[in-house]
Amino acid sequence: MDDQVVKRIKVWDGFIRSFHWLLVIAIATLYFSAEEGMMELHFIAGFFTLALLLTRLIWGLIGSKTAKLSALLHSPIAAIKSFKQTNEPVGHGAAGSYMVLAFFALLLVQLVSGLMTTDDILTDGPLVQYASNNVVEWAGWLHHTNFDLLFYAIILHVVAIVIYRIKGKRLVKAMVTGYTDKEAGNAEVKVTKSPWLAIVIFVVLLGGLLMTWGAEPLSYLVS
Ligand code: HEM
Ligand code: HEM
Repeated sequence: MDDQVVKRIKVWDGFIRSFHWLLVIAIATLYFSAEEGMMELHFIAGFFTLALLLTRLIWGLIGSKTAKLSALLHSPIAAIKSFKQTNEPVGHGAAGSYMVLAFFALLLVQLVSGLMTTDDILTDGPLVQYASNNVVEWAGWLHHTNFDLLFYAIILHVVAIVIYRIKGKRLVKAMVTGYTDKEAGNAEVKVTKSPWLAIVIFVVLLGGLLMTWGAEPLSYLVS
């Protein structure tokens, strides 16, 4: 009867959970500030998101087992099969991994295009000065169009989470508390690392961005 014993194991470390919920707040802020024309806030939230995503990618190389980028690589067949599996491995499932990789790509495109976008009035992204007019025009188009794709991906993501919930998987609870219940036969005891190194990396990156590209918008924002 061993395989019916259920163990509570930690699946998401503190950094992954903070990354996720801070990302949700940051994207809402970025959308709101763009709509309201609050470009200083948009830039600061953009640099915050850039530091967050870069830290996540670095954590994908040196972080917890469930955060590893290598753990996100699965064949399309494994992804299709994973819809039918009831006992998936600890961490992102194969289909979910495609979603995560799509988010990382969409966010990178959104951030890099933003750095080269201008509002044609007062505010230029920090890389506009190094790019030709054609590139800046194209980056502005990309920043606009890619946001639509990001928006649809978010809707799909939330719908998928709701469907998993209906099927009995409490994924949100795990992303909030860090813990999930697994059958003991399949559970590994320790898959997460302490988040401190990730927090230090994030603070250094954010500090660097705010002191350089962020100094001007930040001074407008606080004055
Ligand atoms: C994930 C991060 C980001 C998101 C989700 C985002 C989202 C958006 C959205 C929805 C718009 C309005 C687009 C439109 O109406 O056509 C916008 C405009 C803009 N964004 Fe971002 N943005 C992000 C990062 C950045 C960054 C890092 C910068 C530069 C530092 C930036 C600079 C701009 C500028 C200058 C505009 C105004 C474009 C215009 O007036 O035509 N964005 N952004
Ligand atoms: C701006 C909106 C959102 C974005 C950009 C986003 C992005 C992401 C990303 C990138 C991951 C992978 C986490 C990692 O490994 O680093 C993820 C996972 C997850 N997200 Fe979101 N998310 C958003 C909104 C939400 C909302 C509103 C919910 C709750 C309903 C949610 C629930 C989850 C859950 C439960 C996971 C873990 C999935 C799994 O177990 O494989 N997300 N999300």
